[in-house]
Amino acid sequence: MAYETLIVEIEDYVALIRLNRPDALNALNSKLLSELATALHAADADDAVRCIIITGSEKAFAAGADIKEMSQKSFVDMFSSDFFAGDSDAILRTRKPIIAAVSGYALGGGCELAMACDFIICSDTAKFGQPEINLGVVAGIGGTQRLTRFVGKSKSMDMHLTGRFMDAAEAERCGLVSRVVPAKDLLTEVKKVAAKIAEKSMLTTMVVKECVNRSYETTLREGILFERRVFHALFATEDQKEGMAAFLEKRQPQFRDR
Ligand code: CAA
Repeated sequence: MAYETLIVEIEDYVALIRLNRPDALNALNSKLLSELATALHAADADDAVRCIIITGSEKAFAAGADIKEMSQKSFVDMFSSDFFAGDSDAILRTRKPIIAAVSGYALGGGCELAMACDFIICSDTAKFGQPEINLGVVAGIGGTQRLTRFVGKSKSMDMHLTGRFMDAAEAERCGLVSRVVPAKDLLTEVKKVAAKIAEKSMLTTMVVKECVNRSYETTLREGILFERRVFHALFATEDQKEGMAAFLEKRQPQFRDR
């Protein structure tokens, strides 16, 4: 399918979704968010996809929600359309793993989009920020909630109240990103990580994703119970039998996603 604001390539079981509004540093307008929702839905339903990467350009992953599009809207416009609700939920509904490959600016909605992915790998040029305060607004796609859970209250308050940018080294130090790689190697490295994930049982991969995400939605006790029950349930799968047999027979497992 052809998109106006995205370039989507599927190769070796990995869907690479590239945000493509170079003139606006990939600002997230309604068209882009709705196309992203469509692309994620399609990738999730496609047996040729086992892992998804969302990336931008070298200069910008995304410089935030589209300020031009929003600037003249009223409260009634924003509230009655529940601006950002439907499209941003699409990422949460995606059951296959999504890696954000961030180079350059990931600001406002761009930082929030990256945080909504399952994990972030960034280049050494990445800059993260929630500068909405400079526009007289607050984050609107989960920034105050997710950044606080990822990096703690003190740093999250600092980022949201000052609007300052965080570089890649600080982002790795505080746990916002899982790895930092040289800018020129970003996509090569992220594709290697995606390929490693794509080798696993898709069934188990989706279960792992559900379990980790559950930790953000529930108490520790309930989360541990959820994990244990799901662990028990996996003993009903062929992939558990195959994975454990392969270990004992000292060979590579052949998972069949069932
Ligand atoms: N929305 C719309 N257009 C944007 C944009 C945005 N968020 N960010 C950049 N652009 C556009 C600029 O208007 C400019 O377009 P023109 O050439 O037509 O003027 C083009 O992209 C290039 O930008 P700059 O000339 O500003 O590039 P720069 O290198 O000098 O600066 C930057 C880069 C520091 C990222 C700067 O563009 C910037 O500060 N952008 C806005 C960042 C921001 O405030 N993001 C939060 C948005 S609100 C939000 O996201 C709410 C939410 O939580 C959902």
